[in-house]
Amino acid sequence: MARTYMEIGVRDGSTLAMIDCAAIGVDPHFQFNSNPIGTKPSLFLYQKTSDQFFRDHDVRAISGDTLDVVFLDGLHQFEYLLRDFMNSEKNCHRHSLIMLDDCLPVNAEMTERRHNASQRRDQNYAGWWTGDVWKIIPILKKYRKDLHITLVDTSPTGTVCITNLNPSSTVLEDNYYKIIQEFRGISMTDESIEKFYQEHDIVSSQAVMSGFDASLTAGP
Ligand SMILES: C[S@@+](CC[C@H](N)C(=O)[O-])C[C@H]1O[C@@H](n2cnc3c(N)ncnc32)[C@H](O)[C@@H]1O
Repeated sequence: MARTYMEIGVRDGSTLAMIDCAAIGVDPHFQFNSNPIGTKPSLFLYQKTSDQFFRDHDVRAISGDTLDVVFLDGLHQFEYLLRDFMNSEKNCHRHSLIMLDDCLPVNAEMTERRHNASQRRDQNYAGWWTGDVWKIIPILKKYRKDLHITLVDTSPTGTVCITNLNPSSTVLEDNYYKIIQEFRGISMTDESIEKFYQEHDIVSSQAVMSGFDASLTAGP
């Protein structure tokens, strides 16, 4: 059972409301329609960007401990997600679980850096925007081979589950500007999205929920 949870990008709190342990939520513009506290023993909310939050606050001082579970669903541009991951991992322990949302796009055009629904060819998915956070998968696979990364087919655009964390690692920080330079010019195309899915195993969410991999839920 998780003791502590943090969600970056909360919006109306649909996901946060389902959490029953001590929690932290961060979003520059909360849009709650109902009370997100539920049965949580504590809930700390910060109405600011994640960069401002990590700059201004000591996560361990807020939660009283390391974080067990983190859900990263903030700004859908890869450099933001990379920083959210780096800042979150520092506040985790080896067996924490970090989940990244929206890294498995359904088509190439939803990976555009800015959501431009009216210009989309496929209007069926025009409301869906993953941005280019899919890049975090090749980045972590290249720079952090020590991480245990599982791609899960949650609807609509997947969840990346990451375990075997190393809060002391500085690899991403040390290579941050190199990584940004390396990946900023790459975009997903109709051809490369096919290759992307051929190269990665995607696990069904049902399998994960039936104990697919104990490391996804193991405690410290
Ligand atoms: C897809 S919504 C989150 C949905 C929510 N996690 C859920 O499951 O119901 C993305 C949220 O990220 C927030 N966001 C945008 N830029 C952000 C930033 N720089 N830092 C943190 N959150 C950000 C937006 O305000 C928006 O509410």
